[in-house]
Amino acid sequence: MNKELKLTKTIYTLDQLTVESYPQIALAGRSNVGKSSLINCLAGRKKLAKISSSPGKTRSLNFYLVQPDNFYLIDLPGYGYAKCSKKEREKWAKLITTYFEKAQPYLKGVIVLLDSRLSPQTLDLELISYLKQYNYPIVPVFTKIDKCSQKQISTTTKQWLPILNMSIKDVILFSSKTGKGKQSLWVRILNIIRSI
Ligand code: GTP
Ligand code: MG
Repeated sequence: MNKELKLTKTIYTLDQLTVESYPQIALAGRSNVGKSSLINCLAGRKKLAKISSSPGKTRSLNFYLVQPDNFYLIDLPGYGYAKCSKKEREKWAKLITTYFEKAQPYLKGVIVLLDSRLSPQTLDLELISYLKQYNYPIVPVFTKIDKCSQKQISTTTKQWLPILNMSIKDVILFSSKTGKGKQSLWVRILNIIRSI
């Protein structure tokens, strides 16, 4: 898939939050789950989005314009990062929830990243029920599959499927390291954008 991703807008504060009128798909998930790495993988570039082995790297809403199709992929700060101050966590949470509210007419789906190695976490469940309120289509992506066995992946996905009310063909098993799942994810993204 030959798409160009271009960072066109970075938002740190509520004052800066004006929502673009192009269709958009956001990436949400706990801190360190691999959102920014997934952006780099989709772009086929190593350093487009900043990544870090310590959680809490992305501190802004980053709008990546996908060309030639003209829609946005949005890298959000991770939730649940325990080491930053409560005040900062609250600021990010407010920024993210305000984005989800304001973007309603343009936000066509949310890619929810889940760690293949972990059973469902409270914060993930909270995100899923929050998104269901808005009826946003959810694309579940299980990350870091290069780090775990088939058995582990199967255990984690089995726990998630009833919660998501989905079957295994609806989820994407992904590795930013090997590129596994990249084509399937592009297909899902483009289907959402083209079905508008
Ligand atoms: P925040 O910005 O803090 O919300 O984190 P994030 O979700 O953007 O995670 P990020 O992409 O920065 O990745 C966190 C760490 O996980 C980095 O050390 C990445 O190299 C690593 N990582 C991400 N995806 C993968 C993957 O598919 N496989 C492996 N092995 N490591 C990964
Ligand atoms: Mg990040």
